[in-house]
Amino acid sequence: MPSQARTTLLYNPLEPRISYEVPFPNPVIGKRTFIDLFAGIGGIRLPFSELGYRCVFSSEWDKNAQRTYYANFGEIPYGDITKEITKQHIPAHFDLLLAGFPCQAFSIMGKMKGFADTRGTLFFDVATIIDRHRPEVILLENVKQLTTHDHGNTFAKILNTLGELGYHTKWEILNALDFGLPQKRERVIIVAFKNKSHSDAFNFNFDKRGYELASILEDDTNVDSTLFASEHILKKRQQLTTGKTIFYPSVWHENKAGNISILDHACALRTGASYNYLLINGIRRPSSRELLRFQGFPDKYKITVSHSEIRRQTGNSVAVPMIREIANRIDRILDSNQSKDCQS
Ligand SMILES: C[S@@+](CC[C@H](N)C(=O)[O-])C[C@H]1O[C@@H](n2cnc3c(N)ncnc32)[C@H](O)[C@@H]1O
Repeated sequence: MPSQARTTLLYNPLEPRISYEVPFPNPVIGKRTFIDLFAGIGGIRLPFSELGYRCVFSSEWDKNAQRTYYANFGEIPYGDITKEITKQHIPAHFDLLLAGFPCQAFSIMGKMKGFADTRGTLFFDVATIIDRHRPEVILLENVKQLTTHDHGNTFAKILNTLGELGYHTKWEILNALDFGLPQKRERVIIVAFKNKSHSDAFNFNFDKRGYELASILEDDTNVDSTLFASEHILKKRQQLTTGKTIFYPSVWHENKAGNISILDHACALRTGASYNYLLINGIRRPSSRELLRFQGFPDKYKITVSHSEIRRQTGNSVAVPMIREIANRIDRILDSNQSKDCQS
């Protein structure tokens, strides 16, 4: 059984004057163990935490993401995972490897012939860790373009490499909109199991859930005044929306050509998008809390960095409810196998 989650009060070396109650403490003894690579702000970790799994290693080199991660999980991730000295901190045994590796990792992979040839890419580092530690389950998340990059060669290389390492893979492109979030965010998920019967038992057929933009919006009166668009932008918006059907609540998106679309959901949150590309009801940018809600982070998730950092961090992160469904399914499969082991 997982140990009871404890409230942990932490002295924060990054912000020594503040001590935090950690909303998602790591259980001392976990139901299962995992490592969290390219951890960002822990969107993949969170549902596994909720299941009582213990994180035994995390890696994220961005200082501000580390800050957010620390405030919420009580742990500062190790840095650059490509460095052998970082990899040396990974314990010999853990059950699951989680990684939402960055997309630049696959830019040159398609032309390579085997696992060893992926050297120099971040996927090679993931594969090296898998080869050394052989976890039961691997969960990888990436942009959907990974599946079509270099005419599909790059994706085939990743699947082949996992196969070479003895894993049985399933993959699917999933959309946050189908998991109750008002955000169109399509991502490819790969789930690989060491045990073939586990992989056979796994599928990506999840019941679609509806979403409601209103449920994640804050009252305008609680939103920082700096997030409201200027008179100049509002006037421009009015001109650009002439003749369009306007409804509320809505998210207004302006593309590079200056065309506006008015939708009942956001397009995928991005890290480096121009400042005004997405406006709530055409009048203001989303607040930090709303950005986290667009990704399905619960409200007890702490915000300890600036709004611009939260924009970057949420743009990089994942749809938590999507990962939650996958985590629950993996958990049930591993549980059922355990009970079969007990019977035999
Ligand atoms: C796509 S984001 C993953 C976000 C994460 N899934 C989340 O929920 O926030 C990839 C992350 O990998 C980190 N990263 C990139 N290269 C790294 C490296 N060599 N070592 C450690 N972290 C790295 C980036 O800073 C970024 O936060």
